[in-house]
Amino acid sequence: MTRTHVPPVLVTGGTGRVGSAVVDFLVDAGVPVRVLTRRSEVAAMLPANVEVITGDLTVPESLDAALRGAGAVFLVWTAPPATAPAVVDRLATHARRVVFLSSPHQTAHPFFQQPNPMAVLHADIERLIATAGLESTIIRPGMFASNVLPWWANVIRTGGVVRWPYGAAETAPVDDRDVAAVAARTLYQDGHAGGDYVLTGPESLSQAEQVSIIGDVIGHRITFEELSPDEFRRETEGSWPRPVVDMLLDAWGAAMGRPAFITSAVTDILGSARSFRQWVADHTGAFQEEP
Ligand SMILES: NC(=O)c1ccc[n+]([C@@H]2O[C@H](COP(=O)([O-])OP(=O)(O)OC[C@H]3O[C@@H](n4cnc5c(N)ncnc54)[C@H](OP(=O)(O)O)[C@@H]3O)[C@@H](O)[C@H]2O)c1
Repeated sequence: MTRTHVPPVLVTGGTGRVGSAVVDFLVDAGVPVRVLTRRSEVAAMLPANVEVITGDLTVPESLDAALRGAGAVFLVWTAPPATAPAVVDRLATHARRVVFLSSPHQTAHPFFQQPNPMAVLHADIERLIATAGLESTIIRPGMFASNVLPWWANVIRTGGVVRWPYGAAETAPVDDRDVAAVAARTLYQDGHAGGDYVLTGPESLSQAEQVSIIGDVIGHRITFEELSPDEFRRETEGSWPRPVVDMLLDAWGAAMGRPAFITSAVTDILGSARSFRQWVADHTGAFQEEP
């Protein structure tokens, strides 16, 4: 009996938050996986049956080896934008389909409608993909639940006060594992060509409520102290990129006084969506001092 050859999926960003979970889901589904990374030394942290190929999105010709024979590509773009046209051209030469990790910049909720460089980059790449004639699926997650790790884990672990702006601003944090699981399904299951999915968590929670849920789950009360936007700019000066701070402040400010935008896309595709409380319960170690 001859076995049908299944072409590998090339995962870019496969060492990052979403991409590494996409790799795991694809491997679990028995799909051959290749990971593109700038750092060959990361091979050790990837599953043994994953092919690791060195390449850099800012050097388009460095992708050729990774793209040879690939059937589909999971595209994550955190690099500068200049080489995006040449990279998408190369993808279209080698692969049939692409699943792109974008954002909900077309969603008519004020949280997603603040002009910012990330939205421009995502819109540009989507246009390039459409023009190149690639079969595509666009994945548009809202706020990742895991954003709270770099934001609050350290201060909570050391018993401090969470000092933050727009405590009443509501978001619907989506579990990165759900984002990755949806992306993986669209890479190995038929029926997602042309799909465009806005992925959110299942509930609208203010930022102060999110802090309080973390306290609840780890079993101690966390004090939340409201900062003004200017205080937040001062506190993050030198440690956070200013465009990121401005993007977040604009989005939170615009979201004040209304519930977060919520979709059922994660549940429609996966059957259920993880709550923020569940995400915290699965990451308590990040918020607690080692015993
Ligand atoms: N955070 C949110 O709430 C949110 C919401 C919606 C959308 N997004 C989007 O999600 C994406 C980020 O996903 P993530 O958090 O999973 O990423 P991440 O953890 O920041 O990881 C970035 C990945 O990109 C790879 N990479 C960076 N520069 C590269 C280059 N020049 N060439 C090749 N690979 C490169 C890195 O690989 P190596 O270092 O191994 O080369 C790494 O695997 C962004 O596009 C962001 O806009 C984020």
